Amino acid sequence: MLGLITTPNGSAPLELREVAEPQPQRNEALVAVHAFSLNRGELRSIRNYDGWIPGQDVAGVVLQQAADGNGPPAGARVVALTDEFAWAQRVAVSAHRMAVLSDNVSFAQAATLPVAGLTALRTLRHGAPLLGKRVLITGAAGGVGTLAVQLAARSGARVTAVVGRAERGAGMRELGAREVVAGIDKAQGRFGLILESAGGASLAHAIRLVEPKGTVVVYGNSSGEPTTLAFADFRGAPNSRVQSFSYFYSEAEDRFAPDLVLLVSLIADGSLRPLIGVERSWRDIATVAEQLRDRRVAGKAVLMVD
Ligand SMILES: NC(=O)c1ccc[n+]([C@@H]2O[C@H](COP(=O)([O-])OP(=O)(O)OC[C@H]3O[C@@H](n4cnc5c(N)ncnc54)[C@H](OP(=O)(O)O)[C@@H]3O)[C@@H](O)[C@H]2O)c1
Repeated sequence: MLGLITTPNGSAPLELREVAEPQPQRNEALVAVHAFSLNRGELRSIRNYDGWIPGQDVAGVVLQQAADGNGPPAGARVVALTDEFAWAQRVAVSAHRMAVLSDNVSFAQAATLPVAGLTALRTLRHGAPLLGKRVLITGAAGGVGTLAVQLAARSGARVTAVVGRAERGAGMRELGAREVVAGIDKAQGRFGLILESAGGASLAHAIRLVEPKGTVVVYGNSSGEPTTLAFADFRGAPNSRVQSFSYFYSEAEDRFAPDLVLLVSLIADGSLRPLIGVERSWRDIATVAEQLRDRRVAGKAVLMVD
């Protein structure tokens, strides 16, 4: 089969090559990959390893059910999360990390859900209940951000979307944002929940915007910049907290399938619309990676395994 192999010392970061077929364990299904998405974190990891097949987001069709009888049967259209190896024509997937797709959910839409969708859903849970709460989301025009804005608004939150520059705010109100600001320094008032992924000065500023007893969820560092903090930055927000987050470890293993089922059902009933800014053949991954790195993708970048 074909797969994308990392070649950090080559002319392109990845090459499409013949690779070995996956050998599923008893608890794993074999899935034909139709689409996957590219995440900002993967831009870093593809540069760090040589001869590796990355890939965590899978949308495709089950070719062979897990031998232990768990998970969807052969022929089911599914979305799934893997640790690695999904940027290939076929991948082995744990049966408990899959959800069946409704007929009206496309492979491209489904491919946006595992990493970005789970991150949006699970970071927001740190602010529950969201009804009436002011929620600030940095990186709102990105993959996680565009999903988080919608999920928060649908849960009754009053969302302030932070974008890097004014034109990145296009469409944010349609996704459910009440306010859109270009730069976190333009945000007014305090917030019960802040999803922070830019890091550096943005995180320092976020801490000065949190409410008493409010939460800043720190889940990324897109800027690569460190943050300087002082106790005084929490003035005005007693008992607020800074919560770290990792989508793989934030909740129990057996919660992956139910959370993927929930996200699929929200797309199916029209209440979640993944914003796919770029949809290209997986052969174009180097170009798409550049677009994502340069902050030129609105929402998610999806690659089709054609
Ligand atoms: N902890 C976890 O489990 C977890 C899970 C998923 C993602 N992440 C991390 O969360 C962050 C967001 O992920 P994503 O997939 O949504 O990324 P993305 O699609 O690239 O979106 C990131 C957004 O952050 C904004 N941004 C602000 N400052 C930036 C900077 N200096 N450099 C680059 N972007 C900047 C960009 O805003 P503009 O478009 O307005 O320019 C961009 O839209 C990434 O850092 C990622 O590694 C962590």
